[in-house]
Parts: sequence; structure tokens; C-alpha cells
Amino acid sequence: MSDAALNHALTTQRRIILGVGIATLDLINEVDAYPAEDAEIRALSHRRARGGNVTNSLSLLAQFGHRCRWAGTLADDPASASILDDLARHGIDTSHAVRIPNAVTPTSCIALSRATGSRTIVHYRDLPELDATAFASIPLDGIDWVHFEGRNPTETRRMIARVLAERPDAGLSLELEKPRPGMADLLHGPRVLLASRAYARAAGFTDPVAFLDDLMPRTSATLCVVAWGAEGACYLARGGMSQLVAASPPERIVDTLGAGDCFNAGVIDGLLRGLPPGDAVECAVRLAGYKCGRYGFAGLIEEVARSSET
Ligand code: ADP
Ligand code: FRU
Repeated sequence: MSDAALNHALTTQRRIILGVGIATLDLINEVDAYPAEDAEIRALSHRRARGGNVTNSLSLLAQFGHRCRWAGTLADDPASASILDDLARHGIDTSHAVRIPNAVTPTSCIALSRATGSRTIVHYRDLPELDATAFASIPLDGIDWVHFEGRNPTETRRMIARVLAERPDAGLSLELEKPRPGMADLLHGPRVLLASRAYARAAGFTDPVAFLDDLMPRTSATLCVVAWGAEGACYLARGGMSQLVAASPPERIVDTLGAGDCFNAGVIDGLLRGLPPGDAVECAVRLAGYKCGRYGFAGLIEEVARSSET
């Protein structure tokens, strides 16, 4: 790996990143082990946190030093106020968030197993997603990178088209987390596709290399990446061969909640720093592995930077 990649969190240039996606209220119960159906058990600990894929990734990109903006929808209940507080604490600009009156904040009830560090998420939402009309009023001048969660493919396709038309020079990434109708229409446009193992499996793949070899020709991306949990990740740069990157496991897995969001932030930061794709993915794997060995995201990047100095 290059020296630039080894100096993980410290050498970043501040870039402007716009993230489009969700913010949630996460109710996290840590349990001894995942309960059987119809059981009643005591949680070992409980915390409430702001969650959501894109806002989780932005909170880490902000910790790297980037200037982050969030575009998404917000309810108007007390939980939405705590989401805004949390994003403001991270210095994330929320001025483009769209308020939906009389709505309820999307909520995830999460069982985090102390035995394995695995997280089981039950997600409730009836909040509409951001649409292309609202996105059209967000200025794109000066933005270095736009990252989409890929929810609501019909609207996302229009938003991606706008970014390509107005800011063809900006970085553009799309998360492929879950298969959704219309998703195939999103594959032409983004330069970086960040898929999850769940997405690959739903498409019938059990091997990340086979998944990427199938995906790449159906896209206009220059880089396709798939995160593969405890086995690490795999990437394919256009014109190259799929490469596996082994996981970087911590001493003990305690909290895998948001590991994929952390991984995505690591890839985006690495590419923004000009790292070659392989180095960016290696950095992301190490970052996500480190994250799995500690709770939550608070102070993560500073901690990683300190640990790589020693
Ligand atoms: P998600 O949060 O979307 O389920 P994954 O489970 O695929 O995402 O994890 C994302 C990344 O986090 C992986 O590519 C890997 O680098 C790291 N990771 C996840 N689980 C582990 C683990 N048990 N040990 C080491 N690294 C892990
Ligand atoms: C983790 C996460 C949680 C959120 C859920 C939404 O990846 O973003 O913070 O509740 O996924 O699907």
C-alpha cells in the first residue's frame, strides 16, 4: 500500500461532499445474545443515536475534515430535533433538509449481540424520501462529491441526471444496498458503485468476484466495490480484474452497526484524497474493521489516526 494510504486520517484535504439519503432514530439494545422468537429478555445497555446510511457516512467524512451537507427528509417530531442537533454537532449542513409536516421520524429497533457483535435491525418508516423536485433547488456549485443512497430509484435517476448535467466533473457515488425496482436504471451515471453483500446475494451471487464481474459491464462506473462483512471487500476498477481485500478484524467484534456506512465513507475519503482504488478500498476495510471493535462512531477517526501514529 502507498505511504499516502498509510497516513490514514491525517493528511486529508477538505472537500465539499453532498450526501443524499436518510436520517433515523436508532434505539440500540445491547443483548447477551440474539433472543429466540417470543422471548422476553433484559438488555445489557441501551442507547439512542442518530442513524441512517448516508448520515452515518457523512458523520465520518466530517470527522475526516470534509465539509459535508445532507439532503434528505425530516419529520417534525422531537426525534427529528435530536437528529438535527446531532448533525449540527458534526458540523454537517442541514439547510437543504425538507420538513414533512405531521410525520414520524423513521426508527430502527436494533438488537446488538454482545456474543457476536452482530446487529439485527427492525426498521420502521413511513416518511417520504427526498424527491428530484426538492433536489433541484439545492445548489451544486463548488461541490466535489455527491453520494446517493439509491433509495427511490425513479427520483434518484433524475437527481443523478442533474448532477451529471450540471457538475460532470464532481465525484458521484451510489450505494446499492438493497435491490429495489428500477435500480438497474441507476447503474449508468455514477462513477463509483458501492454495493452490499445483501444486494449481491439478492441478485443470486455467493462470490464477490462473480458479482462484480457481472455488475461492471452493465454500468458506466469506473469502480465497483462490494463489502463482504467479516471477509472484507472486493473491488473492480474498469479494465482491471476483481481484487479481494481481506478484512482487518479487531481483537474483539463488539459493534458492527453501520460498518457498511463506515466502509463507504472510507472509500469516498480515499478517492477524494487521490488514492488509487485498491488503496482506497484497503483504507476503508481497515477503518470499518477498526469500527467493529468499538461502539458507535463518536471520535472514531481521531482514534484511528492516533492508533496509526503509535
Ligand atoms: P453492512 O453494515 O452493510 O452489513 P458489512 O457487514 O459488509 O456491511 O461490513 C462492511 C465492512 O466492514 C466490510 O467490508 C469489512 O471491511 C468490515 N467488517 C464487517 N464485519 C466485520 C468483521 N466481523 N470483521 C472485520 N471487518 C468487518
Ligand atoms: C446502519 C443504519 C442504521 C439505520 C439503518 C437504516 O447501516 O444506517 O443507522 O437505522 O441502517 O436502514
